[in-house]
Amino acid sequence: MKDMTIVLGITGGIAAYKAAMLASLLTKRGAKVITVMTKGATAFITPLTLQSLTHQPVYTDIFDERDPSRITHIDLADSADLVVVAPATADFIARAAQGMADDLLTAVLLATTAPVVLAPAMNVHMYAHPIFLQNLERLRDVGYYVAEPGVGPLACGYTGKGRLMEPDEIVEFMDMVLTPKRMSGKRVLITAGPTRERIDPVRYLSNDSTGTMGYALAQMAWRMGASVTLVSGPVAIKPPLGVDVVNVESAAEMREIVLARASEQDAIIMAAAVADYRPGTVSERKLKKDDGTRSIELVKTPDILMDLREAKGRHTFVTGFAAETHDAEFYAKKKLLEKGADMLVLNNVLEPGAGFGPGTNKVTVFFADDTSVDVEKQPKLDVAKELLAMISERLQGQKDLANDQSVDSV
Ligand code: CTP
Repeated sequence: MKDMTIVLGITGGIAAYKAAMLASLLTKRGAKVITVMTKGATAFITPLTLQSLTHQPVYTDIFDERDPSRITHIDLADSADLVVVAPATADFIARAAQGMADDLLTAVLLATTAPVVLAPAMNVHMYAHPIFLQNLERLRDVGYYVAEPGVGPLACGYTGKGRLMEPDEIVEFMDMVLTPKRMSGKRVLITAGPTRERIDPVRYLSNDSTGTMGYALAQMAWRMGASVTLVSGPVAIKPPLGVDVVNVESAAEMREIVLARASEQDAIIMAAAVADYRPGTVSERKLKKDDGTRSIELVKTPDILMDLREAKGRHTFVTGFAAETHDAEFYAKKKLLEKGADMLVLNNVLEPGAGFGPGTNKVTVFFADDTSVDVEKQPKLDVAKELLAMISERLQGQKDLANDQSVDSV
């Protein structure tokens, strides 16, 4: 969003105070945020608050023409890379759905050709009212994006659907709207995080994976238009917006979910650091210490990536990861071959700025056709974007090939 112009519309609901946080987040991301407030909005929050946070002018009146050579609502509409209205009240949505232009914000909405995001917020019964829902549907039909409200306690005292989407999630939603939909219509399953293999009710074997790379892949795949399932081991990361998260603990649980859903996926990305061994027996009671040493017998866990060779769909594109500390390229190529993946992402976990943990990654990607690509050190979300671009290119290649073959057979 850096250097983009975002027109932030604020309408008159109690959630208007949260628009200040949204303005601040967008400004910190480097966007030029120009605020347009309805008269109702100014009853809840002042224009000065928005001006102070964005360092940009704030508009409240359609007849406030500051520059005689320009027409404000057309100027604002043309300059916008995206228009976001947060909160959008039922009244505003009704007026917008009628194509009215009776204040500056509705006029900007009619005049803009930029994408529009509406983040409704209101009382639970207002949100469920058929007339409101028809109005919202009408706006969806013309291509407006709706950042759906959450369920929770509302300012009116009710609990239910109607809470404004959290400002950080609205920013993520806007990122999704602005991302080209290279994976539209694709189903992608991603595994992430470590697995835990129980020793007893209070102890387990695990590893240092934080899940960041897998979560970044899920977030980016959703932004690119895919329908995403994230099968996650235990991690301390917020579930990404728009992603179906299935939480698991052990390698066996992860395997069950992945294999059950494998055949319907266009792509599967095995970013999880699956434990290779588990204790042979799990004690139902906490093990008590005694004198002397103790050993735990370890048995191998099933290799999920290996098992995907049978379980995946005919055209599912499978990506594995390899976490290595030495002879990295040798082991990566070996895993690619032995596990039958189409693509393998090599992490040298000892390299600075690569491997486990939040922050950056630096990887080399190997393909089954013996080619490879280096992806330079950058934030994991950007690495995810590059990896998904490679996957979508190959999915497109498969589609083109299938089309050619069907033409041949005609
Ligand atoms: N993997 C898996 N099931 C396992 C172990 C690994 O599906 N039981 C997958 C990982 O998700 C990853 C790839 O296999 O995509 C390689 O994992 P990695 O831990 O690097 O290699 P291992 O096969 O476990 O071999 P080693 O630990 O000896 O390097």
